[in-house]
Amino acid sequence: MRRKLAAGNWKMNGTSAALSELETLINAHPTADVDILICPPATLIAQAAKTALKSPVQIGGQDCHSAESGAHTGDISAPMLTDAGASHVILGHSERRENHNESSMLIHDKARTAHQSGLITLICLGESLAQREAGSTLDIIADQLANSTPDGATATNTVIAYEPIWAIGTGLIPTLDQIAEVHDFIRSKLETRFGDQTASGIRLLYGGSVKPGNADEIFAVSNVDGALVGGASLKEADFSPIINALEHAV
Ligand code: 13P
Repeated sequence: MRRKLAAGNWKMNGTSAALSELETLINAHPTADVDILICPPATLIAQAAKTALKSPVQIGGQDCHSAESGAHTGDISAPMLTDAGASHVILGHSERRENHNESSMLIHDKARTAHQSGLITLICLGESLAQREAGSTLDIIADQLANSTPDGATATNTVIAYEPIWAIGTGLIPTLDQIAEVHDFIRSKLETRFGDQTASGIRLLYGGSVKPGNADEIFAVSNVDGALVGGASLKEADFSPIINALEHAV
């Protein structure tokens, strides 16, 4: 059985005052039947990790460099994330693929380094609206999955997040059939590449406008093992109902 994962991506939101939301979240979930992850901005990781110590909430980064150290002004390495108390890192988010021109090959190299540093990677995939309308969603997903995921991926060190770009921050979500189609497709591609045993343990998250009001129906979809939540992860009052919905999903 795959343990479900409710992951929050705070993106470029939050100064130290936002840690009170994390504290409220931790107090609301002294124990949890699912994994809970918050990925705050890099400036808050160390403080957040201290706050979340001995709680069911884990802390992750939103990106890391492909090198372990070096002359890369402004970048953050995977060992720095682990040192700050992060256990996970989001890689290949569409906002990084688009705003920073990140290729799947670069994301692959980042993931390999992150795994070497003991981080669990959340590798993000997703098509644009134009690509969906052109009927090329599965081709895009197959290409991003194949080229972003390193050979060393296992059920322990890798989570895949399907985030259609047009559903991020828009309030739009794909139909449940469309989510099922992509998630089933990702699972079958993982089976072909990594074998049934590894593939059956890799968690697949859906991301894009997940809210308390649609979480139940999304979590009932085939091969959806949790969510990567943006806006609704910023406030405990929005994120907790999503976590609760995941705990109640079968
Ligand atoms: P929203 O939940 O705000 O649509 O963002 C999704 C996302 O990009 C999470 O990584």
